[in-house]
Amino acid sequence: MAIEVVVPMLGITIEKGKIIKWLKSEGEFVKKGEPIFEVETEKLMTEVESPATGILKKILIPENMEVPVLTVVAIITDRGEELPEKYRLAPAILHLQPIPPQPTSPPTPVATVKLSGESYDIAILGAGPGGYVSAIRAAQMGARVLLIEKGDLGGTCLNRGCIPTKSFLSDLKIYQKVMHSDLFVHGSKVSIDLKKMVVRKNRVVETMKRGVSMLLESQKVNLVKGFGRFIDPKTIEVSKDGKTEIYKTKNIIISTGSKVASIPTVKIDRKMILSSDDVLDLKEIPKDILIIGGGVIGVEFATIFNDLGTKVKIIEMLPKIILTEDEEVIRGLTLLLEKQGIEVFTHTKVLKASPKKEKVEVTIERDGKQEKFSGEKVLMAVGRVPFSDGLNLDKIGIKMEGGFIKVNSRMETNVEGVYAIGDVIGKIMLAHVASAEGIVAVENIMGRVREIDYQKIPSCIYTIPEVASVGLKESEAKQRGFDIQVGKFPYLNNAKALAMGEPEGFVKIIAEKELGRILGVHILGEHATDLIGECLLAINVEASIEDLGEVIKGHPTLSEAVTEAALDWQKKAIHLAKK
Ligand code: NAI
Repeated sequence: MAIEVVVPMLGITIEKGKIIKWLKSEGEFVKKGEPIFEVETEKLMTEVESPATGILKKILIPENMEVPVLTVVAIITDRGEELPEKYRLAPAILHLQPIPPQPTSPPTPVATVKLSGESYDIAILGAGPGGYVSAIRAAQMGARVLLIEKGDLGGTCLNRGCIPTKSFLSDLKIYQKVMHSDLFVHGSKVSIDLKKMVVRKNRVVETMKRGVSMLLESQKVNLVKGFGRFIDPKTIEVSKDGKTEIYKTKNIIISTGSKVASIPTVKIDRKMILSSDDVLDLKEIPKDILIIGGGVIGVEFATIFNDLGTKVKIIEMLPKIILTEDEEVIRGLTLLLEKQGIEVFTHTKVLKASPKKEKVEVTIERDGKQEKFSGEKVLMAVGRVPFSDGLNLDKIGIKMEGGFIKVNSRMETNVEGVYAIGDVIGKIMLAHVASAEGIVAVENIMGRVREIDYQKIPSCIYTIPEVASVGLKESEAKQRGFDIQVGKFPYLNNAKALAMGEPEGFVKIIAEKELGRILGVHILGEHATDLIGECLLAINVEASIEDLGEVIKGHPTLSEAVTEAALDWQKKAIHLAKK
């Protein structure tokens, strides 16, 4: 049966796409799921997969032509099947809806205000991992939910943060493995196609966005696109394209996230001085990059650029990078990053950065002296600041603290019925914290009493190798007066890590001497961010370190390293030589 290939819906606001390249020719055999053409929209470039297995019988839209989404661009048939009459007689181009010509200057917006007839139980401002998760939980609990988003579903995490970088890292791990192994490469060249990496990243992001959109639809959440702001604590105005709609609601959750911060003397110009938002769609691999800030974003992008072949310098003003992690982990990661070729400058403060013709000149200060570094690109990674501009928070009297919205442990602001979660409250700026805070806010609104325990939240850093931790660092535990003992197990002694060719890292567990209460777990090594899961469970159910050591693990697994670290605490690790 003939199957139509269409330009997919590539986002709620995207109406048309340009066919950049056909990856298959007419008459060629194609498999379901195989990329068959590249399409470009104003926001992204991505590959489109074949909807069926068969013969690409007819290409109806040539390269470089722009068409509305859902336009039929090709036909796939079974082997030997004729092209149906309707596609033979008239080229599909004739069936196209013409794209209305773009006005040369934007039309003057005509402000129209409409009052939505429906009233909601919960309105949520912002559809990042805080907002959309809140919306789903609220709908599950029977609330009528309005979700308002000015940009793309999924916020920073899905569009410009956690997810796109993981797609890059996954590609780069394969690339590095292949490049450094004489098992696969025998003289021929291995190289990276940055354009294809970006296309794959976009495909991952778009697939996830479609997934979130379907989840919201299935829960009957009303998603409204536009910028939302308070009229009063029970009324939200949403504006888009000169039109304004007013919505009534009993409760509101503010989950508007954060934006990139810079230092006052450095302007992010998005060409040479970049933020983490800009580096995900680079067209060319820079020869060198200076990364200002050795926090989470700094070290993660240092890994990505270094693996792409860029010469990387991290400039950090504090004595150490990723200062919130355990000292041994910091030492281990710093050594591993340096071994990979990344230069780490600590105690080094950036004073200013000036773009010159081909390089950016960065003035730094260390040991009381000023020096100049230069790089083709600069990445600004000195933190993020809450996004609450234009929400009219002052109008409804919301209390702020250091630029963040102030909330209590139930996520309530000082204004009744108004809650806030995620980066905009700045407790811990992480996607999984925003989601957890969202669930707590919703459950409180719906009549349950819920609070968050910030001690039980994991930190996950996606460098190569990864870092993951929960609870107290060794130094913190000592400072707080706990009588502690440490159990440790190196990846080098774990069979699976060796077999995988990933022997670098360790698992470190800190527990109280007398009762064996687990106070903190710190992992440096591949899949650390997955391994921390069982430690989180142990801490959540208040298992002791003896309990953790008693678990019988499958062999060989990386997870055995967690058991062995717990056994080391009791001086009975099997795969450690007698001390
Ligand atoms: P950050 O606060 O983690 O690190 C910024 C670093 O910049 C600090 O170490 C600071 O000392 C340094 N710095 C500031 N001014 C400087 C100057 N003039 N010269 C040199 N160094 C300077 O912020 P980052 O890395 O930008 O991350 C932002 C947020 O995004 C964080 O809250 C982070 O938790 C979150 N995030 C989390 C990820 C994860 O959990 N895997 C991934 C990416 C972001």
